[in-house]
Amino acid sequence: MRKTILAVMFAVLASGASAAAADMFPSHPITLVVPFAAGGPTDAMARILADHMRTSLGQSILIENVTGAAGSLGVGRVVRAAPDGYTVSIGHLGTHVANGAIYKLGYDLVTDLEPVVLLPSNPMIIVSTNAVPARSLKELIAWLKAKPAPATAGTAGAGSGSHIAGLYFENATGIKLQYVPYRGTAPALTDLVAGQIDIIIDQTSNSIAQVRAGTIRAYAVTDDKRVASASDIPTTDEAGLSGFHMTLWSGLWVPKATPKDVIAKLNAAAVAAMNDPAVRKKFEDLGLQMPAADNLAPAALGDLQKAEIAKWWPMIKAANVKVE
Ligand code: MLT
Repeated sequence: MRKTILAVMFAVLASGASAAAADMFPSHPITLVVPFAAGGPTDAMARILADHMRTSLGQSILIENVTGAAGSLGVGRVVRAAPDGYTVSIGHLGTHVANGAIYKLGYDLVTDLEPVVLLPSNPMIIVSTNAVPARSLKELIAWLKAKPAPATAGTAGAGSGSHIAGLYFENATGIKLQYVPYRGTAPALTDLVAGQIDIIIDQTSNSIAQVRAGTIRAYAVTDDKRVASASDIPTTDEAGLSGFHMTLWSGLWVPKATPKDVIAKLNAAAVAAMNDPAVRKKFEDLGLQMPAADNLAPAALGDLQKAEIAKWWPMIKAANVKVE
């Protein structure tokens, strides 16, 4: 009897304490875990977002790049963190959908994480090193088909956005690619500019600056509409690969059992950032597309994630991707 009373008192105290902690949230700096190399598209999005979220939350947001295994190590770091809102995961279709079909993760992408908010999405862009003798997507595909050995395609690891885009491209064209994995598409892009690899199917926000600088060549964006800030680049429909559409959506997640009102505060800060005209301009100049206003509740990200798992896992599993 005495033990039960103590247990009840303790539970009341503990829930009281976590309710108080949630009220006070945030009372110290927050860590935003970026599962890819610094300087890449996910890192760039995280830093633009963190800059504004720190003002509305009143606490600094520290960016921690935890790279490897196509982002699955960085996501695992957050899964194992305390469910108090102070450790947040940024990720996308690759890290929070594809990796579940490829790796023995040791965690469940849906039940071990709580969705916070859907972030801007990125149409992919097909780019090559300037040494590739092609001036259109049709010429690129002909060149890739004629090559005796598979062309090298840079990725951020098996399961990353750039890898899934490659698998999808192989399926759509019948071309085989030789994947070259990096810890993010930032280092992959460096090697593309240097001519060390042939192509990347990259996130537009990552490659657009180099395309504008003329250090790499773009063939098409994988969407049915052109990117406003790069309207000279045709869509895959216009360039002859009709229907080859892929947009990499991103999001924020926290560990499961994080209090709902803590998630609500993080969500509100991210939404405020995305509604800020200066932040929106930064994202749109990178070719990013803002999520719809009625798609910003935490559950909207959760629903999208489940729908994308149903959509992409069959293709990814059929590709029988081997990981070390
Ligand atoms: C990155 O930030 O490097 C990318 O998100 C990697 C990818 O998934 O292609």
